Amino acid sequence: MELTININGQPVTRDVEPRKLLVHYIRETPGLTGTHWGCDTSNCGACVVLMDGKPIKSCTTLAAMCEGHEISTVESLEFDGTLDPIQQGFHELHALHCGFCTPGMLMTTRSLLNENPDPSEHEIRTAISGSICRCTGYKNIVAAVRWAAEHEATMTSGSSSISQEA
Ligand code: FES
Ligand code: FES
Repeated sequence: MELTININGQPVTRDVEPRKLLVHYIRETPGLTGTHWGCDTSNCGACVVLMDGKPIKSCTTLAAMCEGHEISTVESLEFDGTLDPIQQGFHELHALHCGFCTPGMLMTTRSLLNENPDPSEHEIRTAISGSICRCTGYKNIVAAVRWAAEHEATMTSGSSSISQEA
């Protein structure tokens, strides 16, 4: 079946089997391998992308379900050479080690800040409860999200495409 999905504001058209998963549709698009494929069972959260601004697990979403929707991947966070505040927060607070969980964590927490610009630690931990990090112990991830919340208003990179959708 021929399928067109808007990914990061660009239509991507491909002839795929109906069983094609969104994570593979995305990763097979040139330049979009930032979305990671981990457990394949909807447990780890490495594959999280945004559909119409809401986080979804692309390893258990059929690509065919996404036609007519806007999909945002981790590549959309950086805007015009400037990191999104959530990316900057992860950098400032050393919130990643191996980085495998990071794309999903970034997209999950970007969505959180779009809906709740001043989340508590409890709200951050609840938001990322569907994502597993095997390295950091979560403390620095939570701190990074708080850093982004506190700096977002003053950072020009708050104008990334996803922030604008919020
Ligand atoms: S690869 Fe999708 S939740 Fe783990
Ligand atoms: S930084 Fe390694 S899994 Fe999270």
